Amino acid sequence: MKSFIIAIGLAVGFGFAAPVGAQSPIVIKFSHVVAPDTPKGKGAEHFKQLAEQYTRGRVKVEVYPNSQLYKDKEEVEALQLGAVQMLAPSLAKFGPLGVKEFEVFDLPYILPNKVALRAVTDGPLGRKLFSRLESKGITGLAFWDNGFKVMSANRPLRMPEDFRGLKMRVQSSKVLEAQMRALGAIPQVLAFSEVYQALQTGVVDGSENTPSNMYTQKHNEVQKYITLSEHGYIGYAVIVNKKFWDGLPPDIRSDLERAMADATKYANEISQQENDDALEAIKKSGSSTFITLNADQKAAWRQALLPVYDEMAPRIGKDVISEFEKEAKASRTN
Ligand code: LMR
Repeated sequence: MKSFIIAIGLAVGFGFAAPVGAQSPIVIKFSHVVAPDTPKGKGAEHFKQLAEQYTRGRVKVEVYPNSQLYKDKEEVEALQLGAVQMLAPSLAKFGPLGVKEFEVFDLPYILPNKVALRAVTDGPLGRKLFSRLESKGITGLAFWDNGFKVMSANRPLRMPEDFRGLKMRVQSSKVLEAQMRALGAIPQVLAFSEVYQALQTGVVDGSENTPSNMYTQKHNEVQKYITLSEHGYIGYAVIVNKKFWDGLPPDIRSDLERAMADATKYANEISQQENDDALEAIKKSGSSTFITLNADQKAAWRQALLPVYDEMAPRIGKDVISEFEKEAKASRTN
């Protein structure tokens, strides 16, 4: 009897734990849609390396790039179902999930620079946006940069009227649809993995993206003109399945939080250079003619895109837009 009780006591005391070395690691499947050689691709690889190092192998991160597992929409569903544990969708892809406030980042020219961006993502609004994900079974961990967007087509896009009648691919954001309509184009929502073929076959005429995404998907090879418009921004929210995250042993979770903080710093440090290098590589390839807008053309784009704010305010929330602008502006006076 005594030895039985001691055995029970030992078992309870050690939580029935097998020796650490014998435990199989916790697996995090991190799925994303871009190439490994991009700000997000490199950030994901860096997170994997740090997470495995900080947890001393108790966590294994499997990174699946290039829509290998899931396309844009399916990956979010897969996360909610627990088929994958981690994603980093672009901020323009949270509308279909019902969290429309994220689309504030898609408003044309809302971000003057990256300092303003950090003020928003690291401030109260960033936290508020993440809290909106909790009821969807998702926890937001970090904001990662890609960069500012350029426009591409097979005709030069200098003035808003140059967009007239063009079918332009957009991400699944109503703000981006409104943006293209405001320019006189016809927006077409397509998953990222489908863009190259759609451009090649003429299903769409043009697109907007960061130089890094364009170059690594070879979009430039099927687009004669690239306008260096920087009219908008692409960034990511790194998200996890909430149940999975909350169920992790606390020490492991805190190791992973440290890995995520360090990977975030890294990803945000390399993003500008990645995009500068991609632009340079496109230039060298000679595939496309670059267009730089003069002051009058820039003013005409801004003017044409201004109505998007009023049109989209009921969707995003006037308060969210004002808070964004306030936090972004405050960064300039600090
Ligand atoms: C796109 O779908 O155009 C991009 O945002 C993809 C990505 O994740 O960068």
